[in-house]
Amino acid sequence: MRYADLVHRLENEGSRAWEIHSAARAREDAGHDVIVLSIGDPDFETPKAVVDTTVAALRGGRTHYTYVEGGPEVRRAIAEHHQRLTGIAVDPDCVVATFGAQGALYSALVCVVGPGDEVIVPEPMYATYDGTIGATGATMVRVALRGDRRFHLDAADVERAVTPRTRAVLLNTPHNPTGAVLSRAEIEAIGDVCRRHDLWLVCDEVYATLTYGVAHVSPSAVPAIADRVIVVSSLSKSHAMCGWRVGWVIGPKELAHHLYNLSLVIHYGLPTFVQDAVPVALAHDHDEVASMRETFRARRDLVVQRVRAMPGLDCIQPEGSVFLMVDVRGSGLSSQAFAWRLLEEADVAALPADGFGPSGTGYLRWSLTVPTERLSQACDRLEAFVRGLRRGHAPITPE
Ligand SMILES: Cc1ncc(COP(=O)(O)O)c(C=O)c1O
Repeated sequence: MRYADLVHRLENEGSRAWEIHSAARAREDAGHDVIVLSIGDPDFETPKAVVDTTVAALRGGRTHYTYVEGGPEVRRAIAEHHQRLTGIAVDPDCVVATFGAQGALYSALVCVVGPGDEVIVPEPMYATYDGTIGATGATMVRVALRGDRRFHLDAADVERAVTPRTRAVLLNTPHNPTGAVLSRAEIEAIGDVCRRHDLWLVCDEVYATLTYGVAHVSPSAVPAIADRVIVVSSLSKSHAMCGWRVGWVIGPKELAHHLYNLSLVIHYGLPTFVQDAVPVALAHDHDEVASMRETFRARRDLVVQRVRAMPGLDCIQPEGSVFLMVDVRGSGLSSQAFAWRLLEEADVAALPADGFGPSGTGYLRWSLTVPTERLSQACDRLEAFVRGLRRGHAPITPE
């Protein structure tokens, strides 16, 4: 039978970036003690109050249809959360609840771009962007992020990539895989490019609450471009709720209307008992949420310190997110060879960052989402592995 062209656009480098992760799971199934740092699913439990609310909702019969776009309390809670983060007042009618940030990304993009359009995306980038933009029929235009600039996006590079077909720029701050957090000046400069070329600025802020020592700045808080900004986010990372699939889009009211129509034909709304938990999750800063952030910060400090002391390795200190980029260029191995050997010889799974785009070449994406002792053990294994390489198995550049 014949399939639509869409299915080919869904096959891409991004969907292949997870090969090491699948191999790690297979090794685990075969009885190996693998430390899996190839995925960003926080190892914490969902805050207790959120679980309790959902269980009570289920027991209370909250199992029928509900609001497709998210109930009024859900959208109000998201609007207030965004206001606390950015200082910008948000009209709940500009908010639509979605299935995770991934559902938000797809829904937002399919409403603003289509065949013949171009979307500018800095790379390395989160692995689903390629397929998501492909699904809309638009073409992704990559802009390289540079390691020597700590992977911070330069507005001039964005501007150089603009063509008459460009319709949107897709930003991600704090950034996966690099951990870069864009400053207000950088966001304003990129926003200015969008304003001058009449582009949408879609910003994936799924790690907004996970910054370490720097402030998260949302383009929605820059008044000159607020009408063209679409924010995408979720509870997945901030509240360790990846499996709940709660996300949202914040944008112009007209977009919210189109998203409502789209939700009608895709999923008909988040489950009612899940929606009940959203205002509880976002109502106040749960102790668990603050403690997760502090734990990630401590883990980041641990790994940065350990990696920098290892022969032939370096790393860029992430300002946010739950990942860091380990620079393996001094090891004499490519990032692919390094990652595969690290898995096969040391049972540590981290993704070669070139799976996120060519500018990730020479780096590994190392996740901080396992318990601290395991992370420390992973550093021990990494150190033993690179010391083994230096003893003569591979050509190492001297320090
Ligand atoms: C940058 C980025 N955007 C979106 C997502 C998807 O998030 P969600 O689980 O809310 O769909 C992820 C998940 O890792 C991510 O890293």
